[in-house]
Amino acid sequence: TNRKPLIAGNWKMNNTVSEAVVLAQEISNGFEKDWAELVDVCVCPPSVDLKAVRGVFLFDHTKVAVGAQNVYFEPKGAFTGEISVDMLVEIGCEYCIIGHSERRELFGETNEGVNLKAKALIAGHVKPIVCVGESLAVRDEGTYLDFVRAQVRAAFAGIGAAEAADAVVAYEPIWAIGTGRTATPEQAEEVCAAIRATLAELFGEEVAEGMRVLYGGSMNEGNAALLLAMPDIDGGLIGGASLKAVSFLDIVKAAL
Ligand code: G3H
Repeated sequence: TNRKPLIAGNWKMNNTVSEAVVLAQEISNGFEKDWAELVDVCVCPPSVDLKAVRGVFLFDHTKVAVGAQNVYFEPKGAFTGEISVDMLVEIGCEYCIIGHSERRELFGETNEGVNLKAKALIAGHVKPIVCVGESLAVRDEGTYLDFVRAQVRAAFAGIGAAEAADAVVAYEPIWAIGTGRTATPEQAEEVCAAIRATLAELFGEEVAEGMRVLYGGSMNEGNAALLLAMPDIDGGLIGGASLKAVSFLDIVKAAL
């Protein structure tokens, strides 16, 4: 395919601003000159770290982008604790993760909320990384393809093909997140292909072929190459292994 791979690090709730700058600097230092042409790389630190991390990558050779881990859909106002798309745009965020399973499970994020956030991000020209994925119970029931397809349809409801084209979808089976139990390349490919088929139903074959579908869930430098070799896996959303520069850079290397 001609899709450029995307390796995205989700730092989750790790790293104070000083720690974040150190990690970003290590990533910058180890990032070789010709990589940026072949792979898109993004790190998603906690929001209070975004500006400082952006500062590290802004003038270096890496073209590493920064992304947020969440956003609120309203433009401004009395929404204590929330952050708007404009705030992310002004500090140079290119991506924003939405609908991560941790947010769905622990913070009540719904399909409807994810859809509102996707629309707000697209309107602000920030690329959403829409996370979907089934629990172990749904996997064992055998209904995981329907479940994930429904999540994709809900996330993109009311969004047109032209607007969706730059969005990213990340398939993260909940049973593989932080567990060390990675989906096999075949398991991950099955669902990523179903996601692309759903995107094709929504936006047409051509747009779906250009959209990136990532895998996430205990991806590391040891298993990345086989996952990334699958035809419908266009990159990774990396949690634990993105917190160490050497591991993260090895995963980037596996995507070249
Ligand atoms: O967003 C990242 C995923 O939740 C994967 O996390 O690589 O620690 O399993 P993990």
